[in-house]
Amino acid sequence: MVITYELQKECPHTGARAGLLHTPHGTFKTPMFMPVGTQATVKTMSPEELKEMGAQIILSNTYHLFLRPGPELVEEAGGLHRFMNWGGGILTDSGGFQVFSLGDLRKITEEGVAFRSHIDGSKKFLSPEIATRVQEQLGADIAMAFDECIPYPADYAYADRSTARTTRWAERCRKAHTSPTQGMFGIVQGGMYKDLRTRSAKELVAMDFDGYSIGGLSVGEPHDIMYDILEHTTPLLPTNKARYLMGVGTPDCLVEGVARGVDMFDCVFPTRVARNGMAMTHNGRVTIKNATYAHDWGPIEEGCQCYACRNYSRAYIRHLYKAEEILAFRLVSYHNLYFLLHFMRQMRAAILEDRFPAFRDEFWAAYKK
Ligand code: GUN
Ligand code: ZN
Repeated sequence: MVITYELQKECPHTGARAGLLHTPHGTFKTPMFMPVGTQATVKTMSPEELKEMGAQIILSNTYHLFLRPGPELVEEAGGLHRFMNWGGGILTDSGGFQVFSLGDLRKITEEGVAFRSHIDGSKKFLSPEIATRVQEQLGADIAMAFDECIPYPADYAYADRSTARTTRWAERCRKAHTSPTQGMFGIVQGGMYKDLRTRSAKELVAMDFDGYSIGGLSVGEPHDIMYDILEHTTPLLPTNKARYLMGVGTPDCLVEGVARGVDMFDCVFPTRVARNGMAMTHNGRVTIKNATYAHDWGPIEEGCQCYACRNYSRAYIRHLYKAEEILAFRLVSYHNLYFLLHFMRQMRAAILEDRFPAFRDEFWAAYKK
């Protein structure tokens, strides 16, 4: 097995756990947050900066790289790590999620999904076998099975049929996947229906993937429903494999995900909102563009040790936004990613030191949504 999970410590009061994920590009500490580099770049950040802020694994997208520049070019470069000059871990999402969010531009059959490229409108096709092959060409450390992320809300009959198909697709991905240097995770679906989540988890666990993702959450449902489904699902997964909650990256959901036994998370949130002038802090969100900060000579967040906070004031960063300078995006992206990576390190320390429940309480006391 190329990807293994080593459990180091379980919180005696919650489902939180601290562990190590062993991969071909290093051993990484969990729980962890993975910055998103959709097009083989984490927007505005260099690999050196990602390393400096403590990023361990980054996520990239099969859908985007399949369309542009194409898997052959990445293969020619020697794989994604070399192509983008990133020596840490890489995980690629299978394309299932992106293809399904195309709406009218796609058609699903048992064989796979036909769709039109959002770049030039040309006809494309992804199937479990093609998504697996493309991910092998991209050469990430971890590939994802090709799945359907069920929209919210979805009626039971639809969720049932979709989940059963995702399971059949997972089986095809497992069979097609032959890379000796890459692991593959199965993705649990089932919508907001617990019996479907149970069936999905059991069937995927029987296929013996290298880890398990929980998909189809954070798709617009209220937080308490997401937490409830998560609490139902994680205990169905093996304790000796990593668990990854896809598309979740706000501090409140990260704490509650960790409390329910999740080890890995990813989200575009920190980098996307940075480009809109929003900074993340322990007290909630700060809109740095606001006039309130015009004469604020303090850092984005008091006490933050990130490059942006050690060197620049809110007033200066606000000016950069007003002047539409690229450095504004870079500084706030740096801060937001650092904030989440540091937050995960704080949670890991709390779990290892037997004080995770107190950490969680203190977080909620300070955090305003
Ligand atoms: N990213 C966020 N949610 C999902 C999901 O359900 N499936 C996949 N493949 N990616 C996701
Ligand atoms: Zn900072």
